[in-house]
Amino acid sequence: MGNLDGKVAIVTGSASGIGECTARTLAGLGASVVVADINGSGAESVAKSIVGDGGTASWFSVDVSVEAQVAALVDHAVDRFGGLDVVHNNAADTRAEVIGRDGTVDSMDVGVWDQTMAVNLRGTMLGCKLAIPRMLERGRGVIVNTSSNSGLSGDLSRSAYGASKAGINALTMYVATQYGRLGISCNAVSPGLVLTPAADRNLTADAREIFKLNHLTERFGVPQDIANAVAFLASDQASFINGQILCVDGGMLAHTPVYGQFLAAGS
Ligand code: NAI
Repeated sequence: MGNLDGKVAIVTGSASGIGECTARTLAGLGASVVVADINGSGAESVAKSIVGDGGTASWFSVDVSVEAQVAALVDHAVDRFGGLDVVHNNAADTRAEVIGRDGTVDSMDVGVWDQTMAVNLRGTMLGCKLAIPRMLERGRGVIVNTSSNSGLSGDLSRSAYGASKAGINALTMYVATQYGRLGISCNAVSPGLVLTPAADRNLTADAREIFKLNHLTERFGVPQDIANAVAFLASDQASFINGQILCVDGGMLAHTPVYGQFLAAGS
């Protein structure tokens, strides 16, 4: 079928958006996929739809911030499909009541900070922590974390979100460093703006235009752009890539910060 034939993959946050597209893509390339999300009914319907399309999938309801639940998720993947080859830690708390209240540092609501860190950063750490022993048993494994360009540059708001994603970047390099020689690779994809329903919900019309102006590839990202990068990093073709943060952002972070202004000024 494809270059992930026979692999077992967990994708967290896969009831919608980027995670859903990635789960479908990995399954389309031959992987058996566990669709894992706090939205259990959403995960179930994505898994059933993958199976309906001829793929292999199961679903699991999980809060990635809770260690016992992530442990149960990993056990489920191993029990159901006989091992674990790929973990894509993708879940993030994108609810308006969290990310929409994540502002400047001096106005930071500590509850929003803690919730963001718990899901985005602790959840990613737990996904690594609990998968690594299973991967070490077999001497191989691939972890792909979803970061964000918000973790690579400063912004006027979403301080907790950006800090959580910068933490994911550091964690990615630490996992690669500690387990690379034992057969595990750990990389991150760093999306720019990807028009998922969650991003659409949180984006003003003005912000949309500014993003467009600053993309070198003149379009918005779509979930498939990220899913393709994850599928590549999960495959044997990427076996010499480790500890990297791969920006999938239409070139947004590749140019001088004043690029958009020069372009708008016609120079
Ligand atoms: P989304 O909101 O569609 O997907 C996030 C998923 O995570 C949802 O299905 C949600 O139910 C699940 N989730 C939330 N809390 C959870 C928890 N505690 N345990 C398990 N699952 C949980 O958002 P989207 O846009 O698909 O984002 C996916 C990833 O991509 C996130 O890590 C996000 O930070 C990242 N990203 C997205 C960008 C975009 O423009 N859409 C840009 C940069 C990064």
